[in-house]
Amino acid sequence: MKPLYWEEGALYLLDQTLLPHKVHYLRLTDYREVVTAIKRLSVRGAPAIGVAAAYALVLAAREAASNPQQVFWDKLEEAARDIEGSRPTAVNLQWAVRRQMKVAACHREKGPEAVVAALEREAQAMQEEDVRTNWAIGAYGAALLPFRARVLTHCNAGSLATCGYGTALGVIRAAHAAGKIAMVYADETRPLLQGARLTTWELLQEGIPVTLITDSTAGYLMARGEIDAVIVGADRIAANGDVANKIGTYSLAVLARHHRIPFYVAAPFSTVDLETATGEAIPIEERGEEEVTHCGAVRIAPEGVKARNFAFDVTPAELITAIITERGVVYPPLGENLRLFAQHQRKE
Ligand code: MRU
Repeated sequence: MKPLYWEEGALYLLDQTLLPHKVHYLRLTDYREVVTAIKRLSVRGAPAIGVAAAYALVLAAREAASNPQQVFWDKLEEAARDIEGSRPTAVNLQWAVRRQMKVAACHREKGPEAVVAALEREAQAMQEEDVRTNWAIGAYGAALLPFRARVLTHCNAGSLATCGYGTALGVIRAAHAAGKIAMVYADETRPLLQGARLTTWELLQEGIPVTLITDSTAGYLMARGEIDAVIVGADRIAANGDVANKIGTYSLAVLARHHRIPFYVAAPFSTVDLETATGEAIPIEERGEEEVTHCGAVRIAPEGVKARNFAFDVTPAELITAIITERGVVYPPLGENLRLFAQHQRKE
């Protein structure tokens, strides 16, 4: 199931707010519609919103292409700012917009039409790269798991959060193909229930054994000796190895350390942000109170109660066993080793 595809100049986004009840693709031809879709989580997951942003810039450039050069560039830069600002935590969004703006600048002399064509080619390349990246993450990660592994995951870091295969679920898919998975435990992931709605749906479709648990069950399962590893995705990895991911990830890492269970983060290098020194500097999205006071459309809390709704939290590097990337497995000291892996790629 693809979270997005590009066809005849339009971006199609699987509306993940309707899953698992309804499979419906939104057809978007205006970059502002993509910004809205990212904000309301029709498309979600760090790598998927990065690629959606790349296509949004194609739409913005196409709309502005008939203007004189200077107006074209002003409009493209304005769109880039809007798209980049649609969600603050996942660095893939900035990464994708910056990559596209570099490509646009390289084609500046050839005029707006050439810029539009180059942006479209680059967005398609990013989409294809993401799937290849996830297969590599899957292969590296699967090797780390024991046979008959019982794995806990949080939120959805699967096909739906990427352009296919997934990061944390990529590892689980590869391990399942190798006959290593006894059970995947999916946290429901309050408040928007990406685990209950999306992760279980993805895994059931492929016959990968999955059991849904409430978020608060994770510690008890660990205490009972029923979890062999925790694997999650990431929205941003700071230079020192601190990881921002879905709210609740930090609690799982603390629990995993207490129970001596390996805690793995699976993420592409596009999620590594060497310009952000530590997790403290990562901007954490706070969303509307109604996502907490309500479950879907149903109010569960009394009128007038205050609520706080952090979409992400930060797990300190010291609680992470390893970060599984497409370039290999990065072990502690994470800060030092992330820098080495990053340099290695630049030289190639
Ligand atoms: O708010 P969401 O659903 O976009 O949050 C998604 C996550 O936290 C994922 O775990 C993360 O983006 C990694 S996706 C491969």
